[in-house]
Amino acid sequence: MNSRIPNFYKLNPQQRVDEITRSLKITKEEWEKLHEKGLTLEEADKMIENVIGIMPVPLGVAANFKIDGKDVFIPMATEEPSVVAAASHAAKLAYDQGGFYTSSTGSVMRGQIQIIHVKKPYYTMAKIYENKDLILQVCNQQDETLVALGGGAIDVKVDVLSELNMLIIHVFVDTKDAMGANVVNTMLENVTPTIEAITEEEVGIRIISNLADRRIVRATATFHNYLSEINTQKFIQAYELAKFDPYRAATHNKGIMNGISAVALATGNDTRAIEAGAHAFAARSGHYKTLSHWEIDKNNNIVGTIELPLAVGIIGGATMSNPVAKLSIKMMRISHAEQLAKIMAATGLAQNFAALSALVTEGIQKGHMKLHARKFSKDG
Ligand code: MEV
Repeated sequence: MNSRIPNFYKLNPQQRVDEITRSLKITKEEWEKLHEKGLTLEEADKMIENVIGIMPVPLGVAANFKIDGKDVFIPMATEEPSVVAAASHAAKLAYDQGGFYTSSTGSVMRGQIQIIHVKKPYYTMAKIYENKDLILQVCNQQDETLVALGGGAIDVKVDVLSELNMLIIHVFVDTKDAMGANVVNTMLENVTPTIEAITEEEVGIRIISNLADRRIVRATATFHNYLSEINTQKFIQAYELAKFDPYRAATHNKGIMNGISAVALATGNDTRAIEAGAHAFAARSGHYKTLSHWEIDKNNNIVGTIELPLAVGIIGGATMSNPVAKLSIKMMRISHAEQLAKIMAATGLAQNFAALSALVTEGIQKGHMKLHARKFSKDG
């Protein structure tokens, strides 16, 4: 399969669907479901409460992506003009250098159990570690399917917050292809009586942490540099500024999340969890920084690296109950959540390259306005 379809952006929506259907094994019925119904009111009513309608968001496809040697069409749901075009354009500039290369640290999530009014924090900490196996066993009884798939609760760590008379128990759970919030929260709530019995102390809150720092994804790409020497310098200086200045870093990272959140939304993932994790990770040193880094190689090409936590799933929640999300996942030909996370990281990096390139050349508004203008043109 080849993600480079010449003039893909010039086709009309039906022609694009035809092109993608030709390349991927997606049936006509599946596409019809997407176009004619998308999400039905009945399906929506099962997803959230007090449903009165559906809020449609355009679904686009980013072309030209090669990730770890495999071409992929990337579905992106977003209301913002230019985002899909920018990702496709940047991916094209990386394609001939091999595209994007990625890695990931796995799929371990962290749940937190707070113990309050602790009288003997260090003694309590020791009791928890003494009973670690029991705690993990009770957690794993909550999801035998996950355990059978090689996942489940794998470790426990205790932080003593003596000045607050509190302890925090971190429970690490390998959630495999699920985002993990449901499984982790179920484990935490059901292990609470065991924790209270072991410690003879009171449990406060118990909830997953969205700072998914054991689910880090990295991606790199070398982008063909079409910028002039002065604009290349401006590109690197724009990055340097973002590393230093949180006001600029927030916007720099927002551009990255334009890509990542669009893929998250298209696949029914929890965009807020991903955003919270990304920004907390960006601030982990105490100084809010960029999620990406930019360097120039010996051929004067621009080399980008992105690193961020991505807690995403391809099973459970809206990824399965929303037919568009199901189709989006199928379109990418992936079978594991880790692959989705890698695709998202690559999309974020491409988006960031496109934004910085635009900022040091024509500016953002011109590009946006060109696309806005399409709304009013006949063949738009
Ligand atoms: C707009 O949605 C995103 C940008 O502001 C990102 C950036 O400034 O790097 C263009």
